[in-house]
Amino acid sequence: MIYNQWYVILDSNELSRKPLRVKRLNENLALWRDEHGTVCCIDDRCCHRGVSLSCGQIINGKLECPFHGFIYDKTGKVTLIPANGKNKTVPETMKVKAYKTYEGYGLIWIWWGDDAKATDEPFFFKELGDFSYSTFIDPWSVHYSRAIENQLDVVHLPFVHRTTIGRGDKTLVNGPVVIRDKELITFYVNNVKDDGKTTPLKPDEIADYEKLFHLQFHYPNIWQNFISDKIRAFAAFVPVDDENSLVYIRYYQRMIKIPLLRELFNYIGKVSSIVILRQDKRVVITQLPKKSAVKMDERLIMGDKPIIEYRKHRQELMGQ
Ligand code: FES
Ligand SMILES: [Fe+2]
Repeated sequence: MIYNQWYVILDSNELSRKPLRVKRLNENLALWRDEHGTVCCIDDRCCHRGVSLSCGQIINGKLECPFHGFIYDKTGKVTLIPANGKNKTVPETMKVKAYKTYEGYGLIWIWWGDDAKATDEPFFFKELGDFSYSTFIDPWSVHYSRAIENQLDVVHLPFVHRTTIGRGDKTLVNGPVVIRDKELITFYVNNVKDDGKTTPLKPDEIADYEKLFHLQFHYPNIWQNFISDKIRAFAAFVPVDDENSLVYIRYYQRMIKIPLLRELFNYIGKVSSIVILRQDKRVVITQLPKKSAVKMDERLIMGDKPIIEYRKHRQELMGQ
């Protein structure tokens, strides 16, 4: 995983007032909400004798270990060892790792890296704040890099999505044009039918590319598809471990605002997103190896440019 990044790890609705155990970024994490509703996240292993803290209960906004009642605050420090008495100071060594958290747009992020380097808040496609949405969460048995690359892949459309968004037999891939701005990648799709006489245009031969259909990815794990000014598909690719990820897919719209009709429209949007996502999943979970890298035994083509850029930049970010 790329160090020193905010990672989306959960949908806000998944965390209620009870402690929650999740595996993310190869770690077992215990999450809960304190008395103000703020998200707290620490390693899910008691420093005393190793039980899962998320099996415990919340007392005055802190987490109590279910085995011998040690109390943990949101910084991962033990603030009370009941067996030693309330009068006794708790040694500094009594602690577990804690993670900075951020909640917004119905999502929960953790900072994965040095706390001193943490920015105040993660990047998000802020314009989506005006949209309503429906969410679907799908487990994929691949490293999150493979799930991301699938959404950067413009070559697969007429094959994987032959019956849906890839209709029209547009197998010839012009470009694509890929623009990178810091940690944001925007790529423009220009697939056409193959008349048997044409060779694809190189990225720098495509005029007016800004007018083309485009998609965006922001490191480390969010993506959006500009279906229209009023409709977007959004995804967060959440790392679980080296061979598993969760795809959080959202259908965002701001066309219909009347409450019941809006929910119905969002539901239909969600179902169509699931159909398309399942077409992707069927193929992607068969990819080997399950994790991508800059140097690997794959022969890429011009149409793979977004994937090539993603791999290169990911490698750079991992080297920091
Ligand atoms: S194992 Fe947690 S208090 Fe003993
Ligand atoms: Fe796809």
